[in-house]
Amino acid sequence: MLCYALDLPRMRPLVVNPGGRLGVDDIVGREQEIRRYWRILERQGLVLGAERRLGKTHIVLKMHETGRDGFATFYQDLESVHGLTELVRALYRAVDHQLSGLKRAKRKAVDLWSTVLPKKLGNLDLPEARNNWKGLLIDAVNDVLEAVGPEDKVVLMWDELPLMLHNLHKREGADSVIQLLDLLRSLRQQHGARLRFLFTGSIGLHLVLRTLRVAGNANDPVNDMHLETVPPMVEAETIELASRLLCGLEHPPSDVETLARHLHKAIGGFPYYIHHIVDRLGELGRPASTTDITASAEALVCADDDPAHLAYYLQRLSTYYGPEEARLSLIVLDAVASQEGATTMDNLINLARHTLPEVRDEQVRETCLLLRRDHYLTLDRRDDVMAHDFRWHVVKQWWRHNRL
Ligand SMILES: Nc1ncnc2c1ncn2[C@@H]1O[C@H](COP(=O)(O)OP(=O)(O)O)[C@@H](O)[C@H]1O
Ligand SMILES: [Mg+2]
Repeated sequence: MLCYALDLPRMRPLVVNPGGRLGVDDIVGREQEIRRYWRILERQGLVLGAERRLGKTHIVLKMHETGRDGFATFYQDLESVHGLTELVRALYRAVDHQLSGLKRAKRKAVDLWSTVLPKKLGNLDLPEARNNWKGLLIDAVNDVLEAVGPEDKVVLMWDELPLMLHNLHKREGADSVIQLLDLLRSLRQQHGARLRFLFTGSIGLHLVLRTLRVAGNANDPVNDMHLETVPPMVEAETIELASRLLCGLEHPPSDVETLARHLHKAIGGFPYYIHHIVDRLGELGRPASTTDITASAEALVCADDDPAHLAYYLQRLSTYYGPEEARLSLIVLDAVASQEGATTMDNLINLARHTLPEVRDEQVRETCLLLRRDHYLTLDRRDDVMAHDFRWHVVKQWWRHNRL
């Protein structure tokens, strides 16, 4: 009863589920972002970047499940797609699965699709399919546009495109990736009025494009699309999420709102970590207090089994950065982590020199830029000077605990 007395919208308790796929009713908030992204899709394609597990997939799923007049959306998770024919197959499968659920899809469209699909999917198994992937992808996109009908725009939501490109690069070479990006761009140009792509990525398209440029491709294959960084959840929505999760515990705290506010202050608008902390609070076997939040955050950072996958921030450096970049990044991140508060550039350069005496100022500056772009660091004004700090307190605490 207590939970529902709170002055927060739609206070239905939520089950803790860090990293799980949530049903659309359990995806809290993201209202401003979703409104903005639809507005952009009216006019052009959209590339959404952000650190892993900030909630990109759930934003896109909410857009897809809720839908919007004038748009037919098709969602695809590309994380496990490693080849070009596999991509075409995944596209046909996604459309087949989702077309009949489209509110606006007409019987004729669904019938048309079910006659075209078996032959198209069958052809993908033919030996020549691998060499003919361009024609197959063009056909696939045309088939979707035709099935949906001229009154609606088609949005192909491709989740984790950069990861697929990275895998494709490894399996089929840089040339295939460049050709794919060029083809996608020409499809966007050809069907500018009706076709939209929405790409999301945790590793940053810029990292993939950079390795392609090294391999000889000079153009910018997504500069006709709008690039955005997904922000943390806004305060009111984070408090709503925390409150609903706390209400869902076996022993909800007596003052849900105070605890939820405390959670927001300790963690920020990172829904995945909020789920994790509430998960720990649920282990207490009694209603949690504010001191339990601090203790749970500490326990999360120190846990040997790393349930929140915080080591990912360290591992991704060696996966996606060159060896020299990774080395400098570690030096800079260790230096920032060693300071209680934010660090000025002068101080950072000094600290970096303690570890690597020959490091140049410019190298430290460039590394900071890259680390800001990849969501490790932020640069803010503190006490009238600009200073770097970790973007997420939880990540900084993990770094301090595990590396210093
Ligand atoms: N809007 C939200 N409401 C509730 N929980 C969320 C929300 N967004 C993310 N989460 C939680 O965070 C986890 C990671 O979100 P996800 O969308 O998969 O991140 P990303 O795609 O950015 O890696 C989800 O499994 C869920 O537990
Ligand atoms: Mg995702």
